[in-house]
Amino acid sequence: MAMVNTTEMFKKAFQGKYAIGAFNVSNMEMIQAIAWAAKAQNSAVIMQVSKSALKYAGPLMLKAMVNAASEETGIDIALHLDHGADFEICKHAIESGFTSVMFDGSHYEYEENVKKTIEVVKFAHDRGITVEAELGQLAGIEDDVNVDAANATYTDPDQAADFVTRTGIDSLAVAIGTSHGAYKFKGEAKLDFERLENITKKLEFAGYKDFPIVLHGASSVDPAVIEMCNKFGGQIKGASGIPIEILRKATSMSVCKINMDTDIRLATTGAIRKHLADKPDSFDPRGYLGDARKMVEELIADKIVNVLGSVDSMK
Ligand code: G3H
Ligand code: 13P
Ligand code: ZN
Repeated sequence: MAMVNTTEMFKKAFQGKYAIGAFNVSNMEMIQAIAWAAKAQNSAVIMQVSKSALKYAGPLMLKAMVNAASEETGIDIALHLDHGADFEICKHAIESGFTSVMFDGSHYEYEENVKKTIEVVKFAHDRGITVEAELGQLAGIEDDVNVDAANATYTDPDQAADFVTRTGIDSLAVAIGTSHGAYKFKGEAKLDFERLENITKKLEFAGYKDFPIVLHGASSVDPAVIEMCNKFGGQIKGASGIPIEILRKATSMSVCKINMDTDIRLATTGAIRKHLADKPDSFDPRGYLGDARKMVEELIADKIVNVLGSVDSMK
């Protein structure tokens, strides 16, 4: 089974009112954990790679490992560039064998974002590669850019319809209150679902029925995992994420792709800390990396079953 783009998986997800998990990867253990959990649930999945993950592992290594995972499991896997900052990085990912890219021009002025997105769409579509773009800005840290809450801007529904019409993108990442990282809400967790509904309505009115929306910054930051990290020497304080019920509501609406990275990092760190604390004489990386892989595999299975609802999406 070769890797796929996101067209079919999003079509089915929209109609089935579930979402496909888009999980950030940067090493073999994460890729295996995600692929094995997805296989066990018969679920399509997206593995995505940030600029810093590309720098860490290299596009060829990542592509070869994700491709091996898709061949080994036979499930549909899209290899996606996360937050591509410019045309060159998108082009490089496509030429390296990625099946989907995100061009993130959300920090540009609107017309500039439109212009740059069109350039990427043209190059990608000519090669059968799907494109995600973003409108509005999330708070939090992504790659080296840190957007504080005061500078975050929510997606404008009218602009969203205009943007999709003019750029020809395949999916749209929106800002409706999520943020990247492990510190999402100081008070009550809340997303602007009215805005999401409005975006979908405006898209429908513009002729885009069933248009897939993407939610970034959607880790739940499980308190039990934070406790595990801290119990074994971590010092993670004041972390909070998106409650599961909120994510479920998003999947029942137009959200077809949900991005999670932080939860994988926390699970990996918790498992490694515990392993090394429990076995101070251990120095075989397969021991602690194996425990981390197991914990991430369980985490992804839980996301697929209890959050995303993408079980059996391979049928
Ligand atoms: O969107 C942000 C992702 O969590 C990527 O983070 O650049 O540290 O790999 P990273
Ligand atoms: P989290 O930090 O909530 O995991 O979000 C990751 C993300 O949106 C990657 O693009
Ligand atoms: Zn993101």
